Amino acid sequence: MCGIVGYIGQKNTKEILLEGLKELEYRGYDSAGIAVLQDGDFTNYKAVGKLVNLEEKTKDFVTESFAVGIGHTRWATHGKPTELNAHPHLGESSYVVHNGIIENYASLKKELTQKGVTFLSQTDTEVIVHQFEKNLKNSPDTFEAFSKTIKELQGAYAILLVTKSEPDTIYFAKHGSPMLVGVNKENEKYFASSDTPLIGHCQKVNYFEDGDYGYVTPDETAIFSKNGTKKEPHFCELSQNKLSAQKNGFRFFMEKEIYEQREVIADTLMGRLSEDAILFDELESSLFEGIKEIKLCACGTSYHSALCASYLFERYSKIKTSVEIASEFRYRKPIMTKDTLFIVISQSGETADTLETLKMAKEAGLKTLVICNVDNSSMVRLAEASILTRAGIEKGVASTKAFATQVVVFWMLSLYLAKLTNALEKSEIAKQIALLREVPASCAVTDNMHERIKRLSKRYLHGHGFFFIGRDIFFPLALEGALKLKEISYLHAEGYPSGEMKHGPIALADPELFTIALLPQHLLYEKSKSNVEELSARDSTICAISPLEFDKADDFIPISTCRDYMLEFFEMMVVVQLLSLEISVRLGNDVDMPRNLAKSVTVE
Ligand code: F6R
Repeated sequence: MCGIVGYIGQKNTKEILLEGLKELEYRGYDSAGIAVLQDGDFTNYKAVGKLVNLEEKTKDFVTESFAVGIGHTRWATHGKPTELNAHPHLGESSYVVHNGIIENYASLKKELTQKGVTFLSQTDTEVIVHQFEKNLKNSPDTFEAFSKTIKELQGAYAILLVTKSEPDTIYFAKHGSPMLVGVNKENEKYFASSDTPLIGHCQKVNYFEDGDYGYVTPDETAIFSKNGTKKEPHFCELSQNKLSAQKNGFRFFMEKEIYEQREVIADTLMGRLSEDAILFDELESSLFEGIKEIKLCACGTSYHSALCASYLFERYSKIKTSVEIASEFRYRKPIMTKDTLFIVISQSGETADTLETLKMAKEAGLKTLVICNVDNSSMVRLAEASILTRAGIEKGVASTKAFATQVVVFWMLSLYLAKLTNALEKSEIAKQIALLREVPASCAVTDNMHERIKRLSKRYLHGHGFFFIGRDIFFPLALEGALKLKEISYLHAEGYPSGEMKHGPIALADPELFTIALLPQHLLYEKSKSNVEELSARDSTICAISPLEFDKADDFIPISTCRDYMLEFFEMMVVVQLLSLEISVRLGNDVDMPRNLAKSVTVE
């Protein structure tokens, strides 16, 4: 959550910081700020709301010579989204930006207040800069004061600090929140909490590891590990492909990403399918030795894809599978046995709760695998093995293509395991692989489909709620459809198993209750149909999504006639994504940056 940037160099520091923050704005956008130290003096700007407000405020600020700068875009955790709570936070002669949570901030704040320090904000972050300045008063050396400060902090953080006592230096610390530093031939130094702001500026980057802290000057990158020993930076090549981060003529990133699913799924499949086997070069077969059970753990949309996986793993691989919500799992003292393969799923690879469950599983000695979209992310670096989803940068806060590629990876993994466990005949695996090859086409958005959904969307802007219903693997799709709608339309929506309606929820049925019914032809069609008929009989307004015309529906969105329920799954996925998008557009909402949300949730 939140985005951090930093820069040391001769170029236009203000522009570099603002451009970097623009790349990270999707991570948090309730306020933003920058602090620049130039010719011995600080200049600081903060603004509430989106980055354009900060751009407007800084339009007359010029940075032309050597400067050191830090910037932040915020998603509020402690304290309201106000200018005073926006980062960077000021001490007497230093500024700090921080991503994460300082868990012991209350006790530190109490001590500092008793010593006469005045706090301006309600944030946990502000203690860092005051604690540092307190330590600096008692120490001849700035780095020593910074190191001492870091050792006094508990919680998760990525921190950048600049101070007048060392005007060409940025101090950094990373524990639990992502951060990297990049260098280039012009001897500039760039910091950020993810690699996108560095693309085009740096060729080589060092991803900090948990516990790393140190300082960077124009001539030196000094990194220390948790125990205080100095270590060599580990610079690797930064991919320079930024094209995928632009809108390509679509109205919104989310729309572009829905349309892109066809290509990214093809990328996800590339090189991983043979006639009758799934090839995951990244996996050692030893990962599965002695495994009797699979446990999947994730949050939000990734949790929904994990639920999909549980149907596929039990059906095709015949392996007992359970699914957990990461924020629940981490605190319920779960039983973890070594014959369980622990799989975490995350688009970002940085979600705090999911990351924590991965650490727990590792500590308990379980074999671990991550399904992730971001190479080099914290989870990829931590897990024993990883499969990358290859969805490309996902900018819309509401996840679409990441979900699609996760489900594809799970489908492939279920067949990979089916082969290892001899759970499926060779011919059945070959049949499934042939189906997998058809998924990109099933995700193509046709003009007809999009136009129809656009037109229908005007009938779904009010009412007292939506039920998305489906059976089997269409139940997690229903959950995902409801989540998409909630996130960007702010309308109340729930996902339910179709067969569960009569056990309570059907009491809500009336014409103002909208039911989005997922009716695949190839999976429990008759049973799902009777569940929808029950709702129709109670006058709920029904929108059926199916290849088969359904006369009890008020509205009907046809999908094409496919030869398998999984192909129907992907077509319906596109329909529910587009429906949410078009409803949100009609309601005038910010599709890509919905209120109260952030792209990467690196706080618990
Ligand atoms: C919803 C959405 C979130 C994320 C969740 C986990 O559209 O994007 O629910 O799925 O915050 O994030 P990752 O997958 O990055 O771990």
